[in-house]
Amino acid sequence: MPYLECRNLKRVFQHFTLDISFSMEKGELLCILGPSGSGKSTLLSAIAGIDSSVSGQFLLDGKDITSIPVQKRRIGMVFQDFSLFPSMNVEKNIQYGMRDVPAEEKERQTEKLLEMVSLPGYAKRKVNELSGGEAQRIALARAVAAKPQILLLDEPMSALDAPLRKRLRSTIRQIHDQTKITMLYVTHDREEAFAIADRIMIMRSGKLEAMGTPQELYRNPPNLFVANFTGEGSVIKVPQIAYNPAKNVAFFRPEDAVIKKCIPNETDFVLKNALVESYEFTGSDYMVRLSYKGQEILVRSNQRPEESIADIYVSKDKLLMLDAE
Ligand SMILES: Nc1ncnc2c1ncn2[C@@H]1O[C@H](COP(=O)(O)OP(=O)(O)OP(=O)(O)O)[C@@H](O)[C@H]1O
Ligand SMILES: [Mg+2]
Repeated sequence: MPYLECRNLKRVFQHFTLDISFSMEKGELLCILGPSGSGKSTLLSAIAGIDSSVSGQFLLDGKDITSIPVQKRRIGMVFQDFSLFPSMNVEKNIQYGMRDVPAEEKERQTEKLLEMVSLPGYAKRKVNELSGGEAQRIALARAVAAKPQILLLDEPMSALDAPLRKRLRSTIRQIHDQTKITMLYVTHDREEAFAIADRIMIMRSGKLEAMGTPQELYRNPPNLFVANFTGEGSVIKVPQIAYNPAKNVAFFRPEDAVIKKCIPNETDFVLKNALVESYEFTGSDYMVRLSYKGQEILVRSNQRPEESIADIYVSKDKLLMLDAE
């Protein structure tokens, strides 16, 4: 039985409709990934119960929570703006949601949570004296302290700089693994989703476009939208592939192609005489941008391209035929 089940959730705005059904397992960390305006925050508000204009049905742990008001749902939330109580210190913020916990136990749990977010000794600090990253970690500790049945996180790190985001995302995964709290984590950032998610839900225009593990979505995207959203790649329309131009395209990832000098006729797929347009050193290898019959091709190569004209080789099992829509 799924842990959280959302059936026919619908929220209609003037220019936008959220219309979605999905379920997740207990203890799962599900990332919601999608372009700006695809309905990620609308979905989270619907699950949290803050939006009363949502129709559909919610089941949590087998119980119908559709008509349970927001304050009675044991759902935790962490949003981009830290939303700590400014008049309370760190400790009071963390203990705010702790219920039925004796005072000395509260203190012990607070210290444990502060250690979990790598801020030991911060209990008596004032909230307005915290940095952005610290405040966000306290917000996380506070949400976890309440032992929610499900924790919703809406781009909790988007205001932070990249190195801090990287560190915090592993903190979130560690907290998840230690507490086993079921988490729904919204992000724009594919790398972030890949790094921490058990599964990823891709949203597009208010609908669920695809759902799967990061590996499944990257290696076997169901369509071009998901392929592009989960990483880089090249689309090719060439006569040697039996494709339906109205619906299907051939697609491959940059690391699945090889630049070679002169490839003899092979059974595998070859794009002859592609033009090297530019290349960038990425630190571990080169990302080479080529053009082939007016189409842009990306190839990851461990060598800098030596010639301006190159053949590109893709083994047939790496070539995906995708729905273009
Ligand atoms: N209160 C509202 N009234 C009218 N339209 C709204 C309202 N809230 C959201 N929308 C619209 O619903 C759509 C989805 O918004 P939502 O905030 O869920 O997107 P999002 O995926 O979270 O985007 P972002 O990544 O930018 O945060 C947008 O087109 C937005 O304009
Ligand atoms: Mg949003």
